[in-house]
Amino acid sequence: METVAIIPAAGSGTRLGLGTPKAFVPLEGQTLLERAVAGALDVGVHRVVIAVPRDLEARTQDLFRAQPNVHTVVGGSERTESVRNALASIEGNPSYALVHDAARPLTPRRVFDRVLTALRAGHRNVVPVLPVSDTVRTLSSQQPEDVAGLSAPVERAWLRAVQTPQGFAFKDLADAHERFERDATTNVTDDASLLEAMGIPAVGVEGSHEAFKITHPLDLELARMLCQRKEN
Ligand code: CTP
Ligand code: MG
Repeated sequence: METVAIIPAAGSGTRLGLGTPKAFVPLEGQTLLERAVAGALDVGVHRVVIAVPRDLEARTQDLFRAQPNVHTVVGGSERTESVRNALASIEGNPSYALVHDAARPLTPRRVFDRVLTALRAGHRNVVPVLPVSDTVRTLSSQQPEDVAGLSAPVERAWLRAVQTPQGFAFKDLADAHERFERDATTNVTDDASLLEAMGIPAVGVEGSHEAFKITHPLDLELARMLCQRKEN
């Protein structure tokens, strides 16, 4: 049963604000991208396809030259387009696909294992989830910058934050992206949502705090501290 991993790494890292595409930011000697790819290879995926900005394609190929099962494609302006480009490059009929953000370089092996176990048990749309620690409200204004108008808090006990790697039956993921390309209506921030729109509900497995996404400068500081602690 062949498993491929798709690593979207073509974002610009605007919120991190370093002026370098986020996946190529070094974290204690290795880029976020190298760490995310290693995480996928460690659990035995057969092929990895990375989507990167066009001007970093050659550098990425160089970075993974010694690993013939790691391939590079040029990503798009949206994450969905990056994943779609990666899918388009995959020949054959793998059974499963993992989609894993380069921005989650410290994801522990056990999270990958939980997702793979659920896939092998027959689930087609698997996401790692964590309880939310903040109280959450919806803005009542149509403008995201306008924080003055707020709805009542959402009942937190029912909320879960969704991480990656997300796991899918490969064909479902390919179909979902093809369908999204034809009639994209909403803004989606992950792949599980695309399968859900096709009538394949997402199934949760336990995520991990260590699988946090490096988004803001403080996230990178935390990641550095965690890496240093592991090395000592
Ligand atoms: N991503 C991608 N192609 C895009 C946008 C994002 O492959 N056009 C990838 C990012 O590289 C990242 C993952 O999707 O690994 C999650 O995206 P996010 O955390 O939003 O990263 P960036 O888009 O780079 O950050 P920002 O939104 O702050 O610019
Ligand atoms: Mg982004």
